[in-house]
Amino acid sequence: MRICIIGAGYVGLTTAAVLSDLGHKVRCVDRDETKINALEQGVIPIFEPGLSELVVRNRKEGRLTFSSDVAASMDEHELIMIAVGTPSAADGSADLVYVRSVLLAVSTVLHTHKVIIMKSTVPPGTGVWAEEFLLGLGVPGTLFDIVSNPEFLREGTAIHDTLNPDRIVIGSRSVDAAEKVRAIYNGIEAETVWTGQTEAELIKYGSNAFLATKLSFVNELARVCDVFGADIMQVAEGIGKDTRIGGKFLQAGIGYGGSCLPKDVSALIGAASSRKIGLELLREVAAVNASQPDYYIGKLEKSLGRLDSEVKVAVLGATFKENTDDLRYSQAIELMKRLAARGCAVTAYDPLVSPALPGVVWAKSAADAATGAHALIVATGWKEFVDADWNQLRQKMSGTIVMDGRNVLNPTKVREAGLTYVGLGRI
Ligand SMILES: NC(=O)c1ccc[n+]([C@@H]2O[C@H](COP(=O)([O-])OP(=O)(O)OC[C@H]3O[C@@H](n4cnc5c(N)ncnc54)[C@H](O)[C@@H]3O)[C@@H](O)[C@H]2O)c1
Repeated sequence: MRICIIGAGYVGLTTAAVLSDLGHKVRCVDRDETKINALEQGVIPIFEPGLSELVVRNRKEGRLTFSSDVAASMDEHELIMIAVGTPSAADGSADLVYVRSVLLAVSTVLHTHKVIIMKSTVPPGTGVWAEEFLLGLGVPGTLFDIVSNPEFLREGTAIHDTLNPDRIVIGSRSVDAAEKVRAIYNGIEAETVWTGQTEAELIKYGSNAFLATKLSFVNELARVCDVFGADIMQVAEGIGKDTRIGGKFLQAGIGYGGSCLPKDVSALIGAASSRKIGLELLREVAAVNASQPDYYIGKLEKSLGRLDSEVKVAVLGATFKENTDDLRYSQAIELMKRLAARGCAVTAYDPLVSPALPGVVWAKSAADAATGAHALIVATGWKEFVDADWNQLRQKMSGTIVMDGRNVLNPTKVREAGLTYVGLGRI
């Protein structure tokens, strides 16, 4: 099949690479010419394990091409997949400005029938609105079908997730269009959930809102563990064994971040609120998450007995999680900002990124960052931090506090190096 994917970001590029690898002819389009030029030179603008190999191979074999000419590319394809960003607007609702601009461009090339696949995460009712939008521009309804096909991949394991999804959700009014979209995934073993458009949109938001809820829930439970001297790892494991609950997303930490959970929780609250429905539970989920860095800084202050300009803190990890270069809504960055605002001298290190942040000095290695630090915080679960040489870090540090912001370290190993281990809800 021939597919045109609009947006060469984490989702669009990964989907383009995987679909071309499955044998389809895929054109991946972005209005960002710098990005497209880089891709044409074989340079991958994002870090995603395994993506580069897939892109290079499929380009070489002629199944994957890139272009910045959005309209011309759409004109040449019947299947058009929209994978542009849907960031938060100032009021927290989803900003559909990019989706709207793609729809405007599609409207100019609807001379023959096209299936418009909504891969971007969009609020309930967007598919219906998109249809009305195109009809309002004078495009006959016979010339297009819209299919909602939300994406569930996780950055860091995006290729694996695209090839092994838990389910493929396809929401459309048109059975023909829905089946065409399902056919692009032939070769991928996964249950298909056939739904209406709005239901598909809500499956995506509902899934992310539920995952965020699990995380804020376990983070609050970790606070309870802190005061009762219990270990959240044991508690979460025991809870997760209940098949009605499941063990995933029960890892306590400094809070969830990334380009999806925070903005999707906020967008769902915004969508519901536009119809006069208040989502109080989700507001609390977001509030608990927003307070998690302060809770954590409170633990640091208690451990050190002070927190001021005399205190030097090393922060390991800046991305919102390991194996990605994505800094969007990173709680590690939030933590650094709040520590700097408290006057602490913050030295940070991340294997991939070093964004400019007031009051933060970037080091070239974990050991460099640790030099002279009174406390060291692991803020992202990169493997190199999990496997760190604690004896070496101990020698570099001037204090002994090691804060495990992701509950990923082995407390015994940290303690054996003469350091004081401080986890979240851990003993
Ligand atoms: N990143 C994830 O882990 C993930 C997972 C599931 C779903 N999603 C959803 O997928 C969508 C895309 O997310 P992403 O992380 O890939 O975003 P991204 O910001 O990495 O990429 C979006 C791309 O779209 C391009 N773009 C914007 N407007 C355009 C236009 N009019 N024409 C052509 N290109 C245009 C941008 O230049 C950018 O390269 C969002 O709705 C997001 O919520 C993301």
